Amino acid sequence: MNVAPPSREKFPSQTDHPTFAAFYNWLASRTPSFRLVEPLRRETAGQAYALVLEVGVGTGLNFPFYVAGQVERVEAVDPDAAMLVYADRNQTKASVPITLTQASAEALPFADQTFDSAVVTLVFCSVTDPMRGLQEVQRVLKPGGTLLLFEHVRAQGAMAARLQDALVPLTTRVCGNCHWNRDTLQTVKAAGFHITRLRELPGVMHPVIVVQATRVER
Ligand SMILES: C[S@@+](CC[C@H](N)C(=O)[O-])C[C@H]1O[C@@H](n2cnc3c(N)ncnc32)[C@H](O)[C@@H]1O
Repeated sequence: MNVAPPSREKFPSQTDHPTFAAFYNWLASRTPSFRLVEPLRRETAGQAYALVLEVGVGTGLNFPFYVAGQVERVEAVDPDAAMLVYADRNQTKASVPITLTQASAEALPFADQTFDSAVVTLVFCSVTDPMRGLQEVQRVLKPGGTLLLFEHVRAQGAMAARLQDALVPLTTRVCGNCHWNRDTLQTVKAAGFHITRLRELPGVMHPVIVVQATRVER
């Protein structure tokens, strides 16, 4: 396994977890459990349309799922320089144009009402201020624009949730700031999105939500 930090001239460091980025990239190519997530990538990225924002692009694992002809262009952001280096390499797997920008969900460098759809997969567990990030996604979506998201979230059982809470100091340290105990569905609603479709996949410690939501007209 190669966990050497990648070269990063193109993306000067802001947030930076080179070891986690290398590990994530390695896992994605070699672990069957990552393949199990592919239907969820198809269900989210595969539904994206027109001008698309991808927040927290990571190494670019959603790139193969964007549909040519349905997607005009993807503007993909991530604050982590090390992740963006892998995403840059993985652009060859996309059949639609992709632009990479080093930026955080909490401060998206785009004008209001720019995007038709936004894709977010396995990101809001790591974002420092999830509410602010989701409000930013609202801001840059056009009225009626679509948020397509899947996230692992807080366990439903009290014991499992308490165990998640107890392990957060570890997961944040070794998994790129992952807070696996967050109730992201609640945050999506509180940020003002209208949920149009919700699938909840059970899991004792690792439940997953798949959400389709619209930016409410104001
Ligand atoms: C577990 S990875 C998921 C990557 C990718 N979305 C996927 O589905 O494979 C979490 C990603 O969220 C990014 N991230 C962390 N904090 C962020 C923030 N404040 N804004 C946007 N992305 C962030 C990390 O850099 C990392 O690339």
